[in-house]
Amino acid sequence: MKVLVTGASGFIGRALCKHLLQQGWSVRAATRSSSAVTTFPPGAEVVRIAAVGGTTDWSEALVGVEAVVHLAARVHVRPGADRRPDNPRFPKHPVNRT
Ligand SMILES: NC(=O)c1ccc[n+]([C@@H]2O[C@H](COP(=O)([O-])OP(=O)(O)OC[C@H]3O[C@@H](n4cnc5c(N)ncnc54)[C@H](OP(=O)(O)O)[C@@H]3O)[C@@H](O)[C@H]2O)c1
Repeated sequence: MKVLVTGASGFIGRALCKHLLQQGWSVRAATRSSSAVTTFPPGAEVVRIAAVGGTTDWSEALVGVEAVVHLAARVHVRPGADRRPDNPRFPKHPVNRT
């Protein structure tokens, strides 16, 4: 069984990918960043995605996938940042425009 993990380079995503691999899942780890690739556990298949939004192309990422864990989110915000929900720099969590 193959699972796609969005936000796979993040705090939760990295731990989840490692756990899923240990449990025998095939893991496809989605990231926007080429530099994040080195942070994934051995055995994870990496797929590059654009920022998650209404026009994100998931066609490559979803091929052969039977489950999705959607963790991509803008979670960590600098102290003093504007956290109002209408601030476009602070969208709801997780990124929910899919
Ligand atoms: N950490 C906690 O204690 C905790 C507790 C409860 C719930 N959660 C939830 O768990 C989820 C993940 O949290 P986390 O702590 O792992 O966050 P994190 O470390 O900030 O990781 C989030 C990942 O999402 C990706 N991302 C951010 N914005 C994106 C965008 N616009 N499009 C696509 N990808 C984007 C980033 O990966 P790339 O830069 O590689 O694309 C980033 O590594 C969130 O929904 C959070 O609310 C976390």
